[in-house]
Amino acid sequence: MNKCSRLLWSSMVMIIITLMFQPSRSDPQINLLNKGCSQYNASNQINFFNNLNDTFADLKSQLTNGSNNHFATAEQARSSDPVYAMVQCRNYLSSADCVACYDAAVSQIRNCSAANGARVIYDGCFLRYESNSFYDQTTLPGNVQICSNRTVSQASAFDAVARTLLNDLELATPKINGYFAAVKRDVDGGTSSIYVVAQCAETISETGCADCLTVANGNIESCLPDGDGRAIDAACFLRYSDTSFFADNQTTNIASFLEGGSSSKNRYIIGGVVGGIGLLLIFLALLIWYQYSRKRKASPRGNVLGGTDLQGPVMYTYKDLKNATDNFSEQRKLGEGGFGEVYMGTLKSGNVVAVKKLSVNSSRVKTEFDSEIRLISNVHHRNVTRLLGCSMRGPDLLLVYEYMANGSLERYLYGDKQGSLNWKQRYRIIFGTARGLAYLHDQFHVRIIHRDIKSSNILLDDEFLPKIADFGLARLLPDDRTHLSTKFAGTLGYTAPEYALHGQLTEKVDTYSFGIVALEIVSGRRSGDMTIEPNAEYLLQQAWKLYESNMHLTLVDETIDPNEYTPEEVKRVIEVAISCTQSPPSLRPSMPEVVFMLSSEYPLDQRPPRRPTFMDQENRSPLETSTATADSSMSRATDTITDVTGR
Ligand SMILES: *[C@@H]1O[C@H](CO)[C@@H](O)[C@H](O)[C@H]1NC(C)=O
Ligand SMILES: *[C@@H]1O[C@H](CO)[C@@H](O)[C@H](O)[C@H]1NC(C)=O
Ligand SMILES: *[C@@H]1O[C@H](CO)[C@@H](O)[C@H](O)[C@H]1NC(C)=O
Ligand SMILES: *[C@@H]1O[C@H](CO)[C@@H](O)[C@H](O)[C@H]1NC(C)=O
Ligand SMILES: *[C@@H]1O[C@H](CO)[C@@H](O)[C@H](O)[C@H]1NC(C)=O
Ligand SMILES: *[C@@H]1O[C@H](CO)[C@@H](O)[C@H](O)[C@H]1NC(C)=O
Repeated sequence: MNKCSRLLWSSMVMIIITLMFQPSRSDPQINLLNKGCSQYNASNQINFFNNLNDTFADLKSQLTNGSNNHFATAEQARSSDPVYAMVQCRNYLSSADCVACYDAAVSQIRNCSAANGARVIYDGCFLRYESNSFYDQTTLPGNVQICSNRTVSQASAFDAVARTLLNDLELATPKINGYFAAVKRDVDGGTSSIYVVAQCAETISETGCADCLTVANGNIESCLPDGDGRAIDAACFLRYSDTSFFADNQTTNIASFLEGGSSSKNRYIIGGVVGGIGLLLIFLALLIWYQYSRKRKASPRGNVLGGTDLQGPVMYTYKDLKNATDNFSEQRKLGEGGFGEVYMGTLKSGNVVAVKKLSVNSSRVKTEFDSEIRLISNVHHRNVTRLLGCSMRGPDLLLVYEYMANGSLERYLYGDKQGSLNWKQRYRIIFGTARGLAYLHDQFHVRIIHRDIKSSNILLDDEFLPKIADFGLARLLPDDRTHLSTKFAGTLGYTAPEYALHGQLTEKVDTYSFGIVALEIVSGRRSGDMTIEPNAEYLLQQAWKLYESNMHLTLVDETIDPNEYTPEEVKRVIEVAISCTQSPPSLRPSMPEVVFMLSSEYPLDQRPPRRPTFMDQENRSPLETSTATADSSMSRATDTITDVTGR
């Protein structure tokens, strides 16, 4: 009885929903699929709202009388708190409906008030803005399918046609100018139909569109044989339905885009042709895919889709991590980082991880810790160590990182492996470190300044590629004065003078430290080491003198075989490293510029570096005159986590 009435009720709801989404003459299709606000607010809200309003006005005018009235991007970055925004309507909407959908999205997204990023996805359009450019993003965690839970009547016939058509659209759409396709196909000899739409953001590449749609198709397939399915992702959209949601005269002819490519039909034929071994391989691949997709489903899925919202880290229990590290035994201790001791742990799954035990009073920092950890766990770059999870309950805060068997660069420069890195490996470490920093500074949606780049914070993976460690608890780029405090967190010898002396923190502090590390890698000499005779001088002084007198090749570590490098390569690296250590900070290149300068396309001598400032010298001229406010902020003791732990 109860079940029966529920069934009746739900089918009534379905009918109403279906009626609501029947295409009518004018329908902006503002059925909300997904929305999210960043948990970070803009710092200067006046600038932010000015930028946001200008950007939204720009988008609207492009939709109204631009040449493309279904897609637009606009940005306003002339002051602080830049805004980058993108709007896209499904191409089957009329211009008026597109603008109506956009207007609805704007009023919806304004609910996020001053959040520095937000997104709204409707059936008819989507709108997103961020504080960084995201136009080239394709598929991101948070991609998900939305199913109707209403099974169609001729399930198997529908299912088969739907899969073929979805595969065809996955294949064809990236090749279509404008990345949009809408197709209607008959099911069961024309007794019913299926309608499918695929679309990518117009700013991504063809392969980016293909990647995104592959993920979307994988997601949406799990809706079948429901009558409706949608897949959303950062830069693409896929929707099918047994009910028409676009006019019949809006369809795309995709036949010509399927020729040559392996259309789904061809795929089946190929599948039939390959022999037993081939089938076995396919079976294995399917098994792996099944395991993978199961794992993906089981893991907590955040509501992410780009920077707008952050996925949380995996939570471990204190007990599990205690067991994994044999109760934090001495034998398992890997070292002592800036923020606490690090242990090698073996999880129940057999995975080996590095567990960092933070030396902080856990109860006092919980709230900041939580948001900081959520942020760090979303940092993914191959030159940055990955935070896998954490434990927040228990006597200590614990962080779980991926384990790097080769240990730190310091070990290879000065430790038991001294002298074992060849030139190519060293060059790759320098280049990879620059890329990791460029990511933290410019490509992650919140700017992260490391503040303590040094050789012991650069870990090496199995292939001797670098991964930046310990960035986790570095503060986000302070946007306002209250954040500007910071006790001196760097390490002497690596720290930019303006930061060491005045606490002035910008991302150029990392550029400086990077330059020093690069010189260490080239020379195999410690930056803070004064023992070199006859005239005791620091590495940076020595490097500058040699560079100035065109004797820079003398700086190269004697353990490197001179046949391995060319003088130009060495000169390029030393020149870039010295540019990174100049003062004032504005003279130093940004890390993305460093990446470019290290690549061979960049002409040497393009930007000859000026003499760096040496910390220990009388001559601190560019710095002495700088602000007094920074001095006072330096002495201000705050209770925040990085100040407690940063040394
Ligand atoms: C962001 O600003 C809104 C209103 O301006 C406020 O309610 C919210 O608490 C702020 N969030 C954070 C994380 O500061
Ligand atoms: C931006 O637009 C909103 C909504 O139209 C308005 O309430 C707000 O005052 C505007 N802010 C600025 C700084 O122009
Ligand atoms: C669009 O048209 C309106 C009204 O004619 C005009 O005010 C506006 O400047 C135009 N915008 C663009 C981008 O052409
Ligand atoms: C968000 O904005 C929309 C449109 O202005 C409004 O209808 C809705 O109630 C708001 N939602 C919340 C949660 O504030
Ligand atoms: C369909 O079912 C899933 C799982 O039971 C649920 O999460 C989802 O909200 C349902 N979708 C609709 C549209 O009811
Ligand atoms: C498509 O058909 C509708 C009526 O169903 C008509 O109003 C519209 O003009 C047609 N569009 C095109 C591009 O032919």
